[in-house]
Amino acid sequence: MTTIGFIGSGNIGSTLARLGVDAGHDVVLSNSRGPETLQSTVERLGPRARAATPSEAATAGDIVVVSIPIRAYRQVPAQPLQGRIVIDTLNYDPARQGSVPEIDAGDTPAHLLLQTHLTGSSVVKAFSNIFFKHLATLGRPAGAPDRSTLPMAGDDAAAKQAVATLIDSLGYDTYDVGPLAESRRFAPGTPAQHAYLDPAGMFAAPGRPASADDLAKLLTARAASPEGTANR
Ligand SMILES: NC(=O)c1ccc[n+]([C@@H]2O[C@H](COP(=O)([O-])OP(=O)(O)OC[C@H]3O[C@@H](n4cnc5c(N)ncnc54)[C@H](OP(=O)(O)O)[C@@H]3O)[C@@H](O)[C@H]2O)c1
Repeated sequence: MTTIGFIGSGNIGSTLARLGVDAGHDVVLSNSRGPETLQSTVERLGPRARAATPSEAATAGDIVVVSIPIRAYRQVPAQPLQGRIVIDTLNYDPARQGSVPEIDAGDTPAHLLLQTHLTGSSVVKAFSNIFFKHLATLGRPAGAPDRSTLPMAGDDAAAKQAVATLIDSLGYDTYDVGPLAESRRFAPGTPAQHAYLDPAGMFAAPGRPASADDLAKLLTARAASPEGTANR
């Protein structure tokens, strides 16, 4: 079993923590306001969960999920994450989460920003194209006909293998899109951001399963709008 550290324990972080606990993993949650503010979340998750500071969650995790508003990326503690596998769920949503000047200036694309900050970590982009409510409901056992596939991208093959194994335990297959730069193919504004949306209810749960074939078609389809214009 894996210990999953969380830097950010909101919609996506706490949903993944629930999936992790249900799969038998230990989870260490953190946020910006301190461990004491996560007590009720930890109690709901049960004895496999505890709350900590971001640095403690970083060092406790075999794999660490960063799931914060992207504008706060510089506050992710780089030193404790040296040599570690980091899952980057971040999307750029300036209207809702505040702007990042280096993205707006074209210096660094949003999908590469965390890796440029965490130069000593193996960053794998994953969970960034699924709405948290759909993430909570679309997981299925391995081999189920309606099991969904999630894209991931990263530059370290061993890190991607470890993340794929974790994601499998959480109820999803993975589709390796390639190096981290290729995560632009499932960034905001791309068709792949719509993979699990119910055509009738859009963000309504439970969402729509997407197979590897469904995802492959979306990953190669032409983007309807440039990155950053259709975020959530
Ligand atoms: N919502 C979705 O369905 C979805 C889907 C895919 C990707 N994403 C992306 O995933 C990221 C998280 O989204 P979300 O909806 O889960 O956000 P959220 O519900 O607003 O949660 C954000 C979490 O980050 C924490 N945080 C903020 N600044 C921090 C810092 N400096 N250090 C440590 N923790 C910090 C917050 O803690 P405090 O409350 O204590 O500040 C909170 O726990 C975003 O980049 C978003 O674009 C979201």
